Amino acid sequence: MPEYMRALQGFKDILPEEQPYWRFIEETATQVAQLYGYRRIETPLIEETAVFRKTVGEGTDIVDREMYNFDDKPDKEGHSINIALRPEGTAGVVRAYLEHGMSRHQLPVKLYYLSVPMFRRDRPQAGRYREHHQFGCEALGESDPAIDAEMIGLLYQIYTQLGLKHIRVNINSIGDSNSRPKYINILKAYYEPLLDSCCNDCKVRFHKNPLRLLDCKEPQDQEKIANAPKIVDYLDEASKEHFAAVKRYLDMYGVPYSMDPLLVRGLDYYTRTVFEFTNESNKTALNGGGRYDGLAEILGGEATPGIGFGMGMERIILELKRQSITPPAEPPTQVFVAYLARTTELKDATVQLVAELRHAGIKADMGYGDRSFKAQMKRASSSNAEYAIIIGENELTNGFVTIRRAEVEAVEVKRSEVIAYITGDDEK
Ligand code: HAM
Repeated sequence: MPEYMRALQGFKDILPEEQPYWRFIEETATQVAQLYGYRRIETPLIEETAVFRKTVGEGTDIVDREMYNFDDKPDKEGHSINIALRPEGTAGVVRAYLEHGMSRHQLPVKLYYLSVPMFRRDRPQAGRYREHHQFGCEALGESDPAIDAEMIGLLYQIYTQLGLKHIRVNINSIGDSNSRPKYINILKAYYEPLLDSCCNDCKVRFHKNPLRLLDCKEPQDQEKIANAPKIVDYLDEASKEHFAAVKRYLDMYGVPYSMDPLLVRGLDYYTRTVFEFTNESNKTALNGGGRYDGLAEILGGEATPGIGFGMGMERIILELKRQSITPPAEPPTQVFVAYLARTTELKDATVQLVAELRHAGIKADMGYGDRSFKAQMKRASSSNAEYAIIIGENELTNGFVTIRRAEVEAVEVKRSEVIAYITGDDEK
């Protein structure tokens, strides 16, 4: 086996065979996002590391362990900034919202991003890559619970339109900056006497990011998690009312949600509503999201409520395949043009006709490399083209072509009428 250079571990090529899945998701997501009034935004792949460090948070796996960041080359004054490959989309979008004064626009500002690459130095495994792509929506400048329900409803509509079944919608409220510190103290008081028997990661979480204690997957800690005080029982009145309204509106969107009191999410910026959709196994997160009312302030802006989600496109593709859902196929080649003998005149006439067909919007192809007529016809048949057009000396001299179609007798069509024949025939 020759030793080729290979893609890095956790990074994947997206080959042409996979593209119909991507297009299916992209077209469905765009159509639904636009239906709900969202407009596309693209932000740079690289940001100053502080954008993520301050918002996603120190002590989170994403920032502490998984972020690709490095010092850029110093400028003339010798200053260098630490920059990061984007591990997630929200912080950059909020940075752009502030930078471009979008708070002066009509609120909420509703934005979406599509097939955006994200980088996390995660342990690669099925459905977990070091580069993955997200479709995401962010709504900024509105705290109305109707927006929370709309986000979840929008996502659910995308899954429905993709034909996915048995999708679980898990929701929770983690309160706001008033109620959360009180709950965290209660949680820590509960864990303190149990800490010795916790896994090593939990011992670190206890100090760095106590909410994530609830997210531990180690068997030894499951009973502790099940008996832990639940954050929804400690919400302040305003957060309680907000969450009750979200649930009422979700019923109006017809979303079959479940309450998951242990859902806390792995990013620090969340407040109040959080949600995650999973597949039937309830193990793989297809998307995650929530409200982040304090994020804009962390980035130096005015207090600006916000809510959004990120959907992992690779995970959706895996789920489509698991459920045997095939995306619409790419349109096949419609016409294949072949020349009977290897002469310059016939080849020129073929290139000319293929160019004209393509300019007329007809998907046409030809054989390259001066192959024999037999070899060209072999290609024509493997391309599944509906029509084969043949040009020989006789055709060239007398200004016509021969058109063959499976199970139909070959016809001679005037050279000047080929396009009309193909398009007209197609419209019949
Ligand atoms: P997240 O939960 O970290 O949230 O990622 C969103 C989704 O991206 C996940 O549910 C999963 O489908 C996919 N994903 C994450 N990491 C990987 C990976 N290593 N390989 C494959 N897929 C992955 C966020 O990123 C937030 N910015 C979402 C958000 C937007 N919250 C508010 N607005």
